[in-house]
Amino acid sequence: MASAPGSRPNDRSLDRATPAALGIVSATGVAPPPKRLVIAVDGPSASGKGTLAKRLAAHFRLPHLDTGLLYRAVGWKALQSGQPPAEVAARLSPDDLADPALRTDEAGQQASKVGAIPEVRANLLKFQKEFSSQALGAVLDGRDIGTVICPDAPVKLFVTASPEARAERRYQELRARGVDTIRPRVLAEMAERDRRDSERAAAPLKAAPDAWLLDTTEMDADAAFAAAVAFIEGKGFRGAAP
Ligand code: DC
Repeated sequence: MASAPGSRPNDRSLDRATPAALGIVSATGVAPPPKRLVIAVDGPSASGKGTLAKRLAAHFRLPHLDTGLLYRAVGWKALQSGQPPAEVAARLSPDDLADPALRTDEAGQQASKVGAIPEVRANLLKFQKEFSSQALGAVLDGRDIGTVICPDAPVKLFVTASPEARAERRYQELRARGVDTIRPRVLAEMAERDRRDSERAAAPLKAAPDAWLLDTTEMDADAAFAAAVAFIEGKGFRGAAP
């Protein structure tokens, strides 16, 4: 990760951590795939991209990075500490990624706000690029993986679903976690985040021209996974036997 002007990454900075030390790696590392495989998964929130990315990583035995977690950690830590977000991004450590509060919608909104700051994105770039350069390959999910982080990835998926379907999923997820909310509020907050992520000047959410569009509006997680595996295996990559 590049240092912000006037700052020095500390010894616990992400750039010095191995992927395994981050605890965000899902490689089982038994039999490597025959060809190096980088899978870039982008899409809006609650499209199903995170679940899909995790399952693809297990299937193709690759390390997985949820890049949204990096932005969530920066946004949350900056809010708590009052430090400038770019500085937080330059000094982010694996410990910062472990806070359960990062999974909340409030942290998601903070992540979306700091994600619009070019210096924050620049300071998170090196770590993501290095993660994607591992020997076997990698699966990364986010908003700009196919466009900025891994423009040469052999597999790019853009996962989407209608705003109503995504809001309903998020609503059910929040209810299951015991969060008291109402559907219109979930839909409005999602629309706000979509707009901010898509309209920002720095690496906006958009499909790479060579991305494969996967619309999960009418699909459950199993159907989305099966469709993605068929697409990737159709390109000559082989995963683990089911
Ligand atoms: O994927 P997620 O919902 O955890 O991401 C939270 C926010 O972080 C998202 O609304 C925008 C930002 N983000 C980003 O700007 N770039 C990424 N590669 C990943 C996330």
